[in-house]
Amino acid sequence: MKFLDIELPLPSNGKNSSHKLFFLALTLILFTSVPFLWNWGLPLPFPKIDISSLIISREPANKCDVFTGKWVPHPQGPYYTADTCHLIIDEYNCIKFGRADAEFMKWRWKPDGCELPYFDAVQFLELVRGKSMTFVGDSVGRNQMHSLLCLLAKVAAPEDISHKYSSDTRHFQHWFYADYNFSLTTLWSPYLVTSKEADPNGFSADSLMNLYLDEADKGWAGEIESYNYVIISVGQWFFRPMYYYEKGQLVGCFRCPEKNISKLGKYYGYRMAFRTAFRTLLDLKSYKGVTFLRTFSAAHFEGDWNKGGDCVRIMPYTRQDKKLEEFNRKFYSAQVEELQAAEEEARRRGLTFGLLNTTDLMWLRPDGHPSHFGKSQRNVTTNDCVHWCLPGPIDSWNEFLLYLMKG
Ligand SMILES: *[C@@H]1O[C@H](CO)[C@@H](O)[C@H](O)[C@H]1NC(C)=O
Ligand SMILES: *[C@@H]1O[C@H](CO)[C@@H](O)[C@H](O)[C@H]1NC(C)=O
Ligand SMILES: *[C@@H]1O[C@H](CO)[C@@H](O)[C@H](O)[C@H]1NC(C)=O
Ligand SMILES: *[C@@H]1O[C@H](CO)[C@@H](O)[C@H](O)[C@H]1NC(C)=O
Repeated sequence: MKFLDIELPLPSNGKNSSHKLFFLALTLILFTSVPFLWNWGLPLPFPKIDISSLIISREPANKCDVFTGKWVPHPQGPYYTADTCHLIIDEYNCIKFGRADAEFMKWRWKPDGCELPYFDAVQFLELVRGKSMTFVGDSVGRNQMHSLLCLLAKVAAPEDISHKYSSDTRHFQHWFYADYNFSLTTLWSPYLVTSKEADPNGFSADSLMNLYLDEADKGWAGEIESYNYVIISVGQWFFRPMYYYEKGQLVGCFRCPEKNISKLGKYYGYRMAFRTAFRTLLDLKSYKGVTFLRTFSAAHFEGDWNKGGDCVRIMPYTRQDKKLEEFNRKFYSAQVEELQAAEEEARRRGLTFGLLNTTDLMWLRPDGHPSHFGKSQRNVTTNDCVHWCLPGPIDSWNEFLLYLMKG
């Protein structure tokens, strides 16, 4: 049975075992060489260290990296169905559009050193009473908000008041939970920075864009100051061809045809977009929100995305099966480095910048995408191996979110 593969104990990864080796070596050195040196009457080469406190401070018993673990079978299935959540939009409603296998909804994330608590809708709503939360970014961020709407659905029904705030109610959604005075919104910004279409042939799925890397997109930056919780993410739009501008000057490009423009690569633009986004939050005097970076969500196309590539697997990978590809890893690293660079200043400002570190664990879920079992509002002929079915593995993102909100 395939389940058994997943249940077998996994070897600890190289990093952990090297830590253990280091402490083992340190312990051996202390216990063997210290009495030896002592007997010879030589001064101790280093001050006495309490080894046990060293080890404990590295891995506190009550702190666990919830993002390192594995997917385990969860036969009870998901939190909700299309019957208990009426807000699942067609794009993610895989069951409605004929997906017949149900196994992909029957896994749960199991951290190595602890349990990830179940999502508790009442607890979540009590935490956000009188508060506001927004998902800034692209449609995958919106996908997480839709998961959250469904996870909350059995406790509270929100009112869609998007039209009061924007004429673009697909990209700028505003849901209001009256019983909790809680606002849940999406602020559309697939680049985080100011962008303009730049393609002579018009806009398409792979058309050229101008990005102004040092200017935060006003679509979110102009709205963000009063929010209590901000979840930032962007991703797949950075595979398009782009011209990069800084201080209003062209500084380089990615996939542009001109020979005399420096090729700065896609990671450059991605990194700068996050740098600008975090800087903007730090500079906003009255911003008091808790910020989370939800890390890069890799696509699972097998084959070219625009030439029939698809994602037809119905089982997760195990950690040994398939490593995250280097080009995906680099997006993750760039944004996490920018978060870490901003964290110290955030602390000084009394702000929390947290990490929703979902890249690696979602990489193990090639089975979670709509493929052709989702109906897009656009007339597209490609399969969807980017967004996530609802219900599905993306629901775990909100389990992590609540876990981090509880601190
Ligand atoms: C993110 O999670 C992965 C495992 O899923 C882990 O290897 C990595 O170290 C984590 N990153 C950070 C910055 O904690
Ligand atoms: C609802 O929450 C907002 C902040 O999000 C606050 O300004 C307002 O006073 C609250 N209203 C009530 C009736 O508590
Ligand atoms: C690149 O070359 C073209 C044609 O020679 C010129 O018009 C353009 O200004 C140049 N661009 C840069 C950034 O040097
Ligand atoms: C979708 O595109 C195809 C071919 O490009 C076209 O034949 C069809 O009429 C379009 N359908 C809709 C609903 O726009």
